Amino acid sequence: SIIPVVLSGGSGTRLWPLSRALLPKQLLPLVSEKSMLQETLARLSSWTAVEVLSPIIVCGNDHRFLVAEQLREMDIKPRSIMLEPVGRNTAPAIAAAANSLSDMNGALILVLPADHVIRDINAFEAAVKTAAIAAEAGRLVTFGIRPDSPETGYGYIKLGDTLSLADGCFEVGEFVEKPDLATAKSYLESDDYFWNSGMFLFKAAVYLDELKKFKPEIAEQVRLSFDGSYKDLDFCRLEENSFAASPSDSIDYAVMEQTTLAAMVPVNMGWNDVGSWTALWDVQSKDADGNVVRGDTYIHDVSNSLIRSESRLVAVVGVENLLVIETSDAVLVTHKDRAQDVKKIVDHLKSEK
Ligand code: GDD
Ligand code: MG
Repeated sequence: SIIPVVLSGGSGTRLWPLSRALLPKQLLPLVSEKSMLQETLARLSSWTAVEVLSPIIVCGNDHRFLVAEQLREMDIKPRSIMLEPVGRNTAPAIAAAANSLSDMNGALILVLPADHVIRDINAFEAAVKTAAIAAEAGRLVTFGIRPDSPETGYGYIKLGDTLSLADGCFEVGEFVEKPDLATAKSYLESDDYFWNSGMFLFKAAVYLDELKKFKPEIAEQVRLSFDGSYKDLDFCRLEENSFAASPSDSIDYAVMEQTTLAAMVPVNMGWNDVGSWTALWDVQSKDADGNVVRGDTYIHDVSNSLIRSESRLVAVVGVENLLVIETSDAVLVTHKDRAQDVKKIVDHLKSEK
């Protein structure tokens, strides 16, 4: 059986001004009526080939009521909602969930970012079923996506030999987190590299052992923090001092780049991590002129643009390839090619505080 561990702690800064510290991307309805977190959980409900148990959600303390409410809306009773007193990135977040499963010997953890789009749920389920065979055998399994651009914000996985125990599962030649542009370009040309989708399947104990081996301080502080945690309704409150004392690191750098136990299942499932407004434009259905339009808007002679109004009429005339995002207290206008730079606005606003 599989226990989903949903990571819901990011801040989604590149989706400003809609995504805010108190209402980040994963808790917003960006691609449908459901929030990204709700979409992530809904995706698992139709699975039949693998047994999925109640999920663990790991999120920041500030988001606890929103997360609990969004689960209630879907009638999902979580195994627990683990609250991080401070953000220490994904390696500690996953370790906290793994610590809570010490009595579930043999259960597999399916790590799921709360903010991705996956179009082909059946392909996803089939990949997880394949991955489960390798994970049962003690491997840390990743899900590889065939890259179509030299993205520097992703991890890259080199395809190795076929794993004899599981058809469709491969050794990992090398795992390189966020390479520079030249390296990413060479990976794209070589055809041997896949993007890391950021989802993982493994036994809790195997992850904790590897973390202990490569980042003993993270493993130790998170263990202390879990030992000092207490239950409060559905919430599991991690002890603050030890959690804060953990180094901050992602699973990708802390474990996946180091371990010899990595394996990969390549999967074609319409995956997108919707990290920016341009990615969001990409995954949504468009009108005849290539526009995605939401809310109270008037457009004329506009093409290949994303126009989104939250609180008043937004009129756009005679432009192309623009992103226009209106909210009650901030408006963003930028070119589709500059969507990555939205992060800089947030950095600037933070520095002014
Ligand atoms: N609970 C919790 N706590 N969740 C977190 C934290 C944290 O401190 N930090 C990040 N997350 C969540 C984010 O909300 C997201 O769902 C997921 O963990 C991954 O974090 P990102 O910050 O989005 O990572 P990334 O996009 O830079 O890189 C990862 O994902 C790529 C694919 O989208 C890596 O795994 C890459 O290798 C991968 O290619
Ligand atoms: Mg991401």
